[in-house]
Amino acid sequence: MRRVSDAAALRARLDAWRAAGERIGLVPTMGNIHEGHLRLVDAARRHATRVVVSVFVNPTQFDRADDFERYPRTLEADAAALAGCGADLLLAPTVDVMYPDGLDLAAYVEPTHSARPLEGEFRPGHFRGMATVVTKLLNLVQPHCAVFGEKDYQQLAVVRAVVRELLLPVEIIGVPTVREPDGLAMSSRNQYLTAAERALAPRLYAALQAAARDGAAPDAPLAAIEAYHTKALNEAGFRVEYFQFRNAQLAPPAPGDDRRVVLAAAWLGKARLIDNQPFAVARER
Ligand code: PAJ
Repeated sequence: MRRVSDAAALRARLDAWRAAGERIGLVPTMGNIHEGHLRLVDAARRHATRVVVSVFVNPTQFDRADDFERYPRTLEADAAALAGCGADLLLAPTVDVMYPDGLDLAAYVEPTHSARPLEGEFRPGHFRGMATVVTKLLNLVQPHCAVFGEKDYQQLAVVRAVVRELLLPVEIIGVPTVREPDGLAMSSRNQYLTAAERALAPRLYAALQAAARDGAAPDAPLAAIEAYHTKALNEAGFRVEYFQFRNAQLAPPAPGDDRRVVLAAAWLGKARLIDNQPFAVARER
């Protein structure tokens, strides 16, 4: 696996692949590679003949400076893990490459309505920074397809909306959430949990699964289910930011929805955990 950090070196490689008729897949990451990221690489390999993985801790999508500063940066270990699972090229750019005019003068992508609720409410500016860097990465690499995890359900929805709205010629592929054996969604931020918090953490997914089961009935009392799990998680030691049902497109649930998703964000000690469970709504008999 080759490693490049600037646009010229990247283009040279990509031009050669395009000339040879290769199909290029992109997996954007912020590094600290874990099994969840590696499944995205597997998916990219199924949809493309060459896989580019980017590792870039994007400053503009962090709503808190301390979160950006302590975000784990493990590029050498990441390179070894990515080479081991068949990635062809590691793109690890600097901030100067991604933001040539500096962060203050940068051009930004302002995402659409799908960025407003949930994460948008609790992390102001996050999706603007995310949409901006993903658009830049898509422009740099110009892949045929790009792969994202359903773990960040709203992020995937925002990326799809931006690609649709900006008419970007790329296929977006979603990959189901990869979990630890006890159900906790894999995440680079799980390492902020103490042993006691780590033991408690799977309750978040357990609550989402229970809510998805109870919320699948056509006449389910969704607000009461949300309130019940919010209270139970808060009493168990989480600090819940939201625990909400939405339709699959993230609009508020409405009668006649075929598919819904229940999404949650909760603090546990110093870690902010997010997770979700999509589900089908049962038909009325
Ligand atoms: P990062 O958190 O590193 O995640 C990179 C990709 O891996 C995202 O598409 C995310 O949804 C996916 N992912 C993370 N954990 C996963 C899991 N347990 N199962 C499946 N997929 C998982 O998300 C970002 O970086 C950034 O916002 C980025 C898109 C790279 C833009 O900076």
